[in-house]
Amino acid sequence: MRYLLKQIHCRPWTLNGLSLKLIESHYENNYGGAVRRLNAISEQLGALDFATAPGYVINGLKREELVAMNSMLLHELYFASMGGDGQPAKAMAEVLARDFGSLDRWRAEFRAMGYALGGGSGWVLLTYLPREGRLINQYASEHSQAIASGVPILALDMYEHAYHIDFGANAKAYVDTFLRNVDWPALHKRYEDALNVQPPRPLVQEEFGDLPGLGVEEVKAMMAAGQPVQVIDVRPRHFVSRQQEIADGIQWRDPEQLKEWIGELSKSEPVVVYCAYGFHVGCKTAIALREAGFDARYM
Ligand SMILES: [Fe+2]
Repeated sequence: MRYLLKQIHCRPWTLNGLSLKLIESHYENNYGGAVRRLNAISEQLGALDFATAPGYVINGLKREELVAMNSMLLHELYFASMGGDGQPAKAMAEVLARDFGSLDRWRAEFRAMGYALGGGSGWVLLTYLPREGRLINQYASEHSQAIASGVPILALDMYEHAYHIDFGANAKAYVDTFLRNVDWPALHKRYEDALNVQPPRPLVQEEFGDLPGLGVEEVKAMMAAGQPVQVIDVRPRHFVSRQQEIADGIQWRDPEQLKEWIGELSKSEPVVVYCAYGFHVGCKTAIALREAGFDARYM
């Protein structure tokens, strides 16, 4: 596998307050260096006999591969993050307001994170989390430490090589300059691309077929609305050793002794079965109750 340098996305001579010399040095020495290092590491890994290679050799090469690869990817995102006029695109501003309270609040957090890395090193990233369907600001130190399954859409390089030629040790001035150069329309396009990444698939318990379930919030709403509902706690005996571990107004029923308590339930009101995790025991109990003619669901 051979990795190739990508063309720089922003037109560096148009950047406002960042010199061509700085960008060229960054591209050639740091981004280019990461790609060249990645290729050298890949070559060594390709030639490695994993059956006999010592652990420290595997550790070192795989760790360095991760560092070089993320450095390559994040530098590409960094250069793609700039080249605009820093004026937030409306659609993107709305997304940030949704996830951070307001555009200003997002910017204050992102900027402060950059300031805080002055004199240190690392990346500040705006990352989309498919699991939550939202954006988050994060640090990524050592070119790695990035959120698993996150999709970074804006990258601020806070390694000194990114600014010392123009700004010396004045990291704050660099962060402000970066924000003045953000390409917001491109950022919004990357956000739209990130939305195509599906969240992790939900748990499917095929063995329990179409057994209907209810979320905690739904049950809470039913109870608050005064709807009749019989909630029973069927956690296995070893989960409940004390009375105070059972919620107010809910009865614990031993899932192993279903025959002994089933007669106390009413068939005219829905039954919600609560167990430790909502997997096995609760589902099995709900199925047994449904077979006996109850409107039972698991929570
Ligand atoms: Fe860099």
